[in-house]
Amino acid sequence: MMPVNIENVDETKLEELQGKIITDVAGSLGLLLAYVGDQLGLYSALAEISPATSQDLAEKTGTNERYVREWLSANVAGEYIEYDPASSCFSMTPEQALIFSAEGHPACMQGFFQAVISVFADEPKASEVFRTGEGIPWGDHNQCLFCGTERFFRPMYAENLVESWIPALDGVREKLEAGAKVADIGCGHGSSTIIMAQAFPKSTFHGFDFHEASIEHARERAGAAGVGSNTSFEVVTAKEYPGTDYDLVTIFDALHDMGDPVGASKHIVNSLSDDGTFMLVEPFAGDSLEENVNPLGQIYYSFSTMVCVPASRPQEVGLGLGAQAGQKRLTEVLNEAGFGHVRRAAETPTNIVLEARA
Ligand SMILES: C[S@@+](CC[C@H](N)C(=O)[O-])C[C@H]1O[C@@H](n2cnc3c(N)ncnc32)[C@H](O)[C@@H]1O
Repeated sequence: MMPVNIENVDETKLEELQGKIITDVAGSLGLLLAYVGDQLGLYSALAEISPATSQDLAEKTGTNERYVREWLSANVAGEYIEYDPASSCFSMTPEQALIFSAEGHPACMQGFFQAVISVFADEPKASEVFRTGEGIPWGDHNQCLFCGTERFFRPMYAENLVESWIPALDGVREKLEAGAKVADIGCGHGSSTIIMAQAFPKSTFHGFDFHEASIEHARERAGAAGVGSNTSFEVVTAKEYPGTDYDLVTIFDALHDMGDPVGASKHIVNSLSDDGTFMLVEPFAGDSLEENVNPLGQIYYSFSTMVCVPASRPQEVGLGLGAQAGQKRLTEVLNEAGFGHVRRAAETPTNIVLEARA
């Protein structure tokens, strides 16, 4: 028995907390089943043939009816899918179809679910680094993390980057339209690099990341997107990427994963042209833990515990900035590196966009 003084337990508070935790347990299993449905194409098939019986859906997807029926039942219980008892048919509302099956739409959450599943799969590695204090290099994570990250972030970048974030930077859109030189550091699968390259064909975009498999993927994606001629991708660390006189350097959701964000930012200062701009996109956060007590804070701190801090620790310096650093702490990092002017240029419910100049 744990050392809890039972007499001090407030039954009402206990019941409230139990209710919240039951919801969380249901949600965690809901995501697991949502991921199964994603991998088997169950949601997209149901969206296509709704209303459908479990037999219809099993036939459409080449899966076993008994499993499909149980999966559908769990989804109905979680209100992810609709059920009509009179006809024994299942269907999806337009909103459910968007969230579970509209690949590429900003409302589709499947990439998010995939990233969550990846951290569940990596639990043994994470628990081990708590004991040793060592890290988990980005490339050692479950493959689902790389695909899930790209899948979830790409639609957000597609929605905001060209339309809102770049126009919010002082004079940058005009430079990109005329023809500028851009470095995208920690570019991962290159979704941000490719979106910018498509929007600004007169500019050249250089994606850098130290994870070789991600860079190979980025090259393939750039070729498929038709931007092979104004993009290049190279395997290199943030402190060593080549080139000078960049008009714009960007980092999307990667500075806090780096071991030495100050060192990386110093390298950025040195690689920029005299009037160059650094655009830093980081997870939305307040400046203190107290300000981040909400579901988004729980999500980001959790990913940070399982992925971001372990990614930073084994690198040089190993700062472990964390995914909820907030603007104040990020500004300190940028000031220390030599950026004298830092301001919040834009924000979304999930991201802050900082503009930094030397
Ligand atoms: C969360 S992912 C973001 C990827 C991409 N920017 C995006 O938004 O989809 C973080 C990326 O930072 C890269 N990274 C971490 N530390 C790095 C370093 N020191 N130098 C270069 N890349 C690094 C990882 O390999 C990974 O691709």
